[in-house]
Amino acid sequence: MPDQPESIAVRKLTADDAPAFQALRLAALEECPTAFGASLADERELSLSEVAQRIAPPDHGGAGGVGAYAGDALVGIACVFRARGGKERHKAYLVSVYVVPAYRGKGVSAPLLDAAIGLARAMPGVRRLNLTVNVANTAALALYRRLGFVVYGEEVEGLCVDGVYQDEYLMTLALA
Ligand SMILES: CC(C)(COP(=O)(O)OP(=O)(O)OC[C@H]1O[C@@H](n2cnc3c(N)ncnc32)[C@H](O)[C@@H]1OP(=O)(O)O)[C@@H](O)C(=O)NCCC(=O)NCCS
Repeated sequence: MPDQPESIAVRKLTADDAPAFQALRLAALEECPTAFGASLADERELSLSEVAQRIAPPDHGGAGGVGAYAGDALVGIACVFRARGGKERHKAYLVSVYVVPAYRGKGVSAPLLDAAIGLARAMPGVRRLNLTVNVANTAALALYRRLGFVVYGEEVEGLCVDGVYQDEYLMTLALA
């Protein structure tokens, strides 16, 4: 009998997900140093309460993390936060997007990012969901384009990873 496709459950993360999120986030920073602005050293020392504040902040208007679970295993993550400046409250940012290698190409990323986009859409007054992506990250670029994000700029030398400068595209999704 052929294998049944494994069912994936995507949901908003809570403070209880902090240990699993932190393990996946550190794996992401280790595997893909050119895909993220933070370094492993930046985040290794975060406490679980700091991680919980990031994925399920009680005071930040619906911001936080979403996760894709295969059974008990967290296999994909994404976070959304809202700009805090009084003149920037119409913008939110998509960050920390990661799917573990064994689950790539299996349809996890689209519902995961749909859920993340849903968080931004539910924030009253938010008109734009922005992100940055390494210009060489073809898989992420294809995914974001498929979801409707468009490139609105390029930051030359946006990251410096182990002494090598990396250019980044700035992408935006219109929510209004
Ligand atoms: C980006 C990421 C979340 C996408 O997850 P995924 O499960 O691979 O997503 P998909 O299977 O839907 O693939 C996304 C697209 O990339 C394409 N793709 C996958 N691997 C590719 C590769 N090596 N080269 C070119 N395109 C590739 C897929 O065909 C798909 O394109 P399509 O929409 O035109 O069919 C995942 O690859 C990942 O976690 N990468 C490492 C972390 C990362 O780069 N995060 C993004 C930071 S901005």
